[in-house]
Amino acid sequence: MTDDGIDEGIDYGGGELPSPGRVSTRHERAGAAKLPRPATGLADGLTAGDAVPKHVAIIMDGNGRWANAQGLPRNAGHAAGESALFDTIEGALELGVEQVTVYAFSTENWRRPAEEVRFLMNFNESLLIRRADDLDDRDVRVRFIGRRGRPVPKRLVRLIEDTEALTRDNTRMTLCIAFNYGGHAELVDAARRLAEDFAAGSLKRITEEDLAARLYDPEMPPVDLLIRTSGEQRTSNYLPWQAAYAELVFTDLAWPDFDRRSLRDCIALYQQRERRFGKAVDQVVKVRGKGD
Ligand code: FPP
Repeated sequence: MTDDGIDEGIDYGGGELPSPGRVSTRHERAGAAKLPRPATGLADGLTAGDAVPKHVAIIMDGNGRWANAQGLPRNAGHAAGESALFDTIEGALELGVEQVTVYAFSTENWRRPAEEVRFLMNFNESLLIRRADDLDDRDVRVRFIGRRGRPVPKRLVRLIEDTEALTRDNTRMTLCIAFNYGGHAELVDAARRLAEDFAAGSLKRITEEDLAARLYDPEMPPVDLLIRTSGEQRTSNYLPWQAAYAELVFTDLAWPDFDRRSLRDCIALYQQRERRFGKAVDQVVKVRGKGD
């Protein structure tokens, strides 16, 4: 165990990966067009502009139960979740969402059966290899939040860094992948850095801004809409700081059945909410705006 309580004793091995195991570089792909995507009418019936959540966070839950319901192994559910993820990203691009943050693996998910953990490490690696260029073509910047030390395989950390570098200058949307992420771990890591800076004398007092500046991605905007699939109604240690004022939408759909239209439906629910941020009810307007 590490001092963070993570079991280091699992060998995630290699194999099962497409070759060569790395993302392409800008140099090799110089001149590749960032294609604008044609609108398909997905936004029809939604209010545009500020009523579209800027930051949508998603807990992709229910892959294992989806697979079991069809007599398949749990890992088949994770594999089916990949197309749900990329269809949802297409929808987010069309709807004008600026950031999507997905929960791909938590600091607590190491407790799952070793065989599933091994699968998820290889799956996330092969997903990056296969999808990094598609995301880059869509002008999507990819970021990761979470701990990058052991027991995350070094090869996966290198791919994470390559994908971040490849897509660093993209501006249409940010896809943030929470991997080996835990909200408690993030706050502990930020508190450690605060304590170090305080002890070194570079901080005289501690404010909310000081803590926020030491989170994994200090530039991450607050979460407007947090979606969890598969009927569970909890947030499972996901973005406790950033989602403090998020609107929560829980859907019974299992993650592999979620798609761009499901995202649109969640945003329609969001647009009926009234966000108060501590104010009194008569001081605020609905998300859709006055008069809608
Ligand atoms: C939290 O529930 C859910 C997650 C951390 C998401 C896990 C998602 C995957 C493993 C699949 C990723 C899929 C793709 C396509 C990349 P929990 O089960 O960790 O928490 P709970 O015990 O409170 O339910």
